Amino acid sequence: MTVSELSELILGRIRDIPDYPQPGILFKDITPLLADAEAFKAVVDELALVHAAGADKIVGIEARGFILAAPVAYRAGAGFVPMRKKGKLPAETLEETYDLEYGSATIEMHRDALSPGDRVLIVDDVLATGGTARAAVELVRRAGAEVAGISVLMELSFLSGRDRLDGVEPRALVTV
Ligand code: PRP
Repeated sequence: MTVSELSELILGRIRDIPDYPQPGILFKDITPLLADAEAFKAVVDELALVHAAGADKIVGIEARGFILAAPVAYRAGAGFVPMRKKGKLPAETLEETYDLEYGSATIEMHRDALSPGDRVLIVDDVLATGGTARAAVELVRRAGAEVAGISVLMELSFLSGRDRLDGVEPRALVTV
């Protein structure tokens, strides 16, 4: 499958939900894509066999990032590391707080989840304002590991998230 065929397949299986989670927001719902065996496999294969090449660990971001990152890790033969919302991980963590449109959020990763020198691919479903991805990059670097890349299913380019990422070029399977 070519990159443009994959992009067409993905775009045909993401649906727009108006006024969710708040009035005025057009939500991009990926659940039809996940439920389609061919499309889900094509997405995981592209991320695992192309984007994750050479990565030792795949970091997935709670919650929708987990759905993609775990099968990508399995398929790539890499380890899976969860980044979770504050208070969900049981052992000692590193944490990073970032701004949301209203307020802030904190994500955490186990302090010993990555080793210095690990090459890490960060995987999430969506790159929007870039706050989450930026915090994820920071956590990987603070653990002494190397960010090999950030890959997302979908980039919302009108929010300019990629401009917030310091020295990493995110890769998106589709851009809207
Ligand atoms: C969504 C999405 C990304 C993040 C992108 O997660 O899954 O992780 O927002 O937004 P940003 O680029 O503006 O930071 P959300 O916090 O809604 O969590 P969920 O996956 O648990 O629904």
